[in-house]
Amino acid sequence: MEACTKRVRADLTQMKTLAFDVYGTLIDTNGVTEALAQHTSDPQSFARLWRAKQLEYSFRRGLMKRYVSFAECTRQALIYTAGYYAIDLNDAEQDALMDVYGKLPAFADVAPALADLRTLGYPTFAFSNGTAAAVRTLLEQADLASYFRQIISVEAVASFKPDPAVYAHFLTQAGSQAEDTYLISSNPFDVLGALSFGMQAIWIKRDPKAIFDPWGMEPVATLSDLTELPRVLKEH
Ligand code: 2OP
Repeated sequence: MEACTKRVRADLTQMKTLAFDVYGTLIDTNGVTEALAQHTSDPQSFARLWRAKQLEYSFRRGLMKRYVSFAECTRQALIYTAGYYAIDLNDAEQDALMDVYGKLPAFADVAPALADLRTLGYPTFAFSNGTAAAVRTLLEQADLASYFRQIISVEAVASFKPDPAVYAHFLTQAGSQAEDTYLISSNPFDVLGALSFGMQAIWIKRDPKAIFDPWGMEPVATLSDLTELPRVLKEH
């Protein structure tokens, strides 16, 4: 029985490599709203603009070839958002909010799904705009670090998703082929970046109201949470 199980397991996973996006997919960036409530009566809107500006800065810096760490994009986006809402944040208050951002909670479905995928033997990586050190801290405090073979960060290529260079970097680091690699992300820009590079991609639709960009490229599957992954990966 043991040999048979091993063979089935190898058949299932031998060619598929899993690349998990981090912010917004494994980690809930909305986790900052509680800390923001000390500074604004509308923490949800503040958090939404902060995230949108953080990503916009990463896109702009990738195009301009003016790389700074994702944490710096996050801090600069925080300063922008506070200014937009005319909220005075002193350095200590900025630092406190950045600390919260560095220790955000994981979504509840993440650990059970990663445990199943580990049992099935899928090579599993964290793949993020965040620096390896920042992502390691996030995953360790969420007790998720042990599920990943490696943390692969865009910092080594000094650019950001969806620059093709970052997907190429992932494949090199993971030693996998594009057609056998599944990018798993809640961020449509990331899913489209991976599909455009020839990888497979699964969209995790965390927000039921989210809309996928009408670019004529579709993910392999759209899931509402990660626990459906073992079934979907077996089907593709
Ligand atoms: C990432 O973790 C920004 O969610 C994106 O790379």
